[in-house]
Amino acid sequence: MVKRGEFEFVNLRYKPKNDLVCLFKIFPNNISIEKAANTVALESSVGTWTKVRGQEYVEKLKAKVFSIKGNFLKIAYPEELFEKDNVPNILSSIAGNIMGMKAVKAIRLEDVSFPKSILRSFKGPRYGIEGIRKFMKIKGRPLLGTIIKPKLGLNTEHHARSAYESWIGGCDIVKDDENLASQKFNLFENRLVKTLEMADRAEEETGERKAYLVNVTAETKEMIKRAQLVENQGGKYVMIDMLTAGWAALQTLRESDFDLAIHAHRAMHAAFDRNPNHGISMFVLADFARLIGVDQIHIGTGIGKLEGDIREIEGLIEEIESRNIKAAKHRLEQRWGDIRPVLGVSSGGLHPRHVPFLMKHLGKNLVIQAGGGIHGHPLGTKAGAIAMRQAIDATLQKISLEKYAKTHVELEEALREWKK
Ligand code: 3PG
Ligand code: 3PG
Ligand code: MG
Repeated sequence: MVKRGEFEFVNLRYKPKNDLVCLFKIFPNNISIEKAANTVALESSVGTWTKVRGQEYVEKLKAKVFSIKGNFLKIAYPEELFEKDNVPNILSSIAGNIMGMKAVKAIRLEDVSFPKSILRSFKGPRYGIEGIRKFMKIKGRPLLGTIIKPKLGLNTEHHARSAYESWIGGCDIVKDDENLASQKFNLFENRLVKTLEMADRAEEETGERKAYLVNVTAETKEMIKRAQLVENQGGKYVMIDMLTAGWAALQTLRESDFDLAIHAHRAMHAAFDRNPNHGISMFVLADFARLIGVDQIHIGTGIGKLEGDIREIEGLIEEIESRNIKAAKHRLEQRWGDIRPVLGVSSGGLHPRHVPFLMKHLGKNLVIQAGGGIHGHPLGTKAGAIAMRQAIDATLQKISLEKYAKTHVELEEALREWKK
């Protein structure tokens, strides 16, 4: 039990009011959990490793550890500790030095809850789920997306062609891969113009809305210039690798208030969230992205990356990842003041066999994206997109893929190609 005064930043009787509250999992480094907790709260608010005779008024900004259960701590931070609409500043306190401090062998920021004063200082998504469905004119089904593959190296001509085939086959959105920017083999402006032309053509031919998610990830001034180009060319979206671009860049993109939906790829998230004992959870990354105002964000698939038979995976996923992914998706859709809900994107190793599972566990408010699962189809890209749309249609009609494949050759070929 903590004696009063022993650890100035531990107060198990404290009840948070307008605080920013963090849930941490910590592994003390040969010291008591209380001592480690005290050090985490001290270093992430107003203290440092040694006593500094400060002005007493600073005390009111102290963080308070108000709950210690096993390895889990809850720490309340007075809202005045932060600059309200400054994500880098907030993270520099709650996920800064403490990530590398000696007092803990490992520490993971599992969750954050924000006081109204901070929530209100952010725009949140410009469109959100409803806005996207409205301008894409899609309701009652997931959106189907693809990523042009090979992920790098295609010239602009072939890139635009592959996008056209994807849209004609039934993709709603086509995105650049996360590491395509403006390399010599496929320069940004040329790619944008040519691919948007193909989107217009595909819209005319199919009567469906078609969107190109061009990747604007770049140095911030250049990124804003590229986003402005997209808006000038009549684009509907931009894509940004939110973590490699950085939080300040994501805020700059959102604050520019382009009439463009923001698709957030989460490349590099695994540097933060892969280790269950250290780093920052995807919940926290997604919450900050939603606060700033992305319209859709990758939340993982829970399937595409795992080996084993789909039924076996179903059991496994039931237990582990889909719970997290479902929880992440639920969080993105939960009411959060005036901050609009964000569309979850499942992408990475997907093909038609995964569609029923994804729709069962993640519902229809979802973007299902397949790169290899479309462009690797034995009958080519267009057939690959058709097969994915057929898998979505079959699932909406509650018909098994095997049965639907009997009368839909593209799906039949896909099931033959990808056995699990
Ligand atoms: C990819 O780029 O391969 C995937 O989108 C990455 O998947 P993740 O969103 O699960 O990291
Ligand atoms: C993405 O950026 O979402 C991925 O590259 C998905 O590609 P894949 O479907 O081939 O894994
Ligand atoms: Mg990718």
